Amino acid sequence: TAGGSDEAKRRAGERAAAAVEDGFVVGLGTGSTTAHAIRAIGRAVDDGLEIRGIPTSFQSRQLALEVGVPLTDLDAVDGVDLAIDGADQVVDDRDAAAFGALIKGGGAAHAREKLVDTAADRFVVVADPSKLTDRLERSVPVAVLPDAHSVVADRIRALDGEPTLRDAERKDGPVVTDNGNLVLDCAFGRIDDPDELATRLSGIPGVVEHGLFVGVADATYIGTDDGVEVRRY
Ligand code: A5P
Repeated sequence: TAGGSDEAKRRAGERAAAAVEDGFVVGLGTGSTTAHAIRAIGRAVDDGLEIRGIPTSFQSRQLALEVGVPLTDLDAVDGVDLAIDGADQVVDDRDAAAFGALIKGGGAAHAREKLVDTAADRFVVVADPSKLTDRLERSVPVAVLPDAHSVVADRIRALDGEPTLRDAERKDGPVVTDNGNLVLDCAFGRIDDPDELATRLSGIPGVVEHGLFVGVADATYIGTDDGVEVRRY
């Protein structure tokens, strides 16, 4: 997604990759920041590091194959040691109850991302300063079963949200996720209680997964133009 220098993203991604240890099962998130981590893990594998990655999207799978990261599946492992993933917004107000809460799904990969990120013993977010905010306010991506989009949209409006079916850029019609679902981008304005909204969204029949990640991240590595800042939650 837009925003943030590629150099800052690279610093964050490479710092997270440095936390990968021999024998680890690693969740491979989606997006341009995590891509730097996947490339760095690929270089470490070239140098003898033995790990297995679990991709969270078609994109991260393709990149991992390209750079030589051995892959496995969630149902073939006992656990995930570390997940590395990006975010579209990160609450960076230490005084907020939602410190460290995220909005994800800008790349429509949030369902598999949440599955893998929550399965991990440790989940590290990689971000640049453009992602940091006091309160979440971006649209929340909500993946829905294809024939549920209009009923879910009605339920979103009843929660005072404005849903927009995400359209594909180079195709006539909507974005279809890696799992065959559609995405409603739901504007709620400023989200004061993401935990409550998350519970309400999860309770709507037809919702596969929403992009609010509350209480999931263990740390965020923020790449800046001259280093990496770490937030722990
Ligand atoms: C994918 O659906 C998203 O959750 C991404 O992880 C998020 O958009 C971060 O991408 P960038 O690192 O490219 O900003």
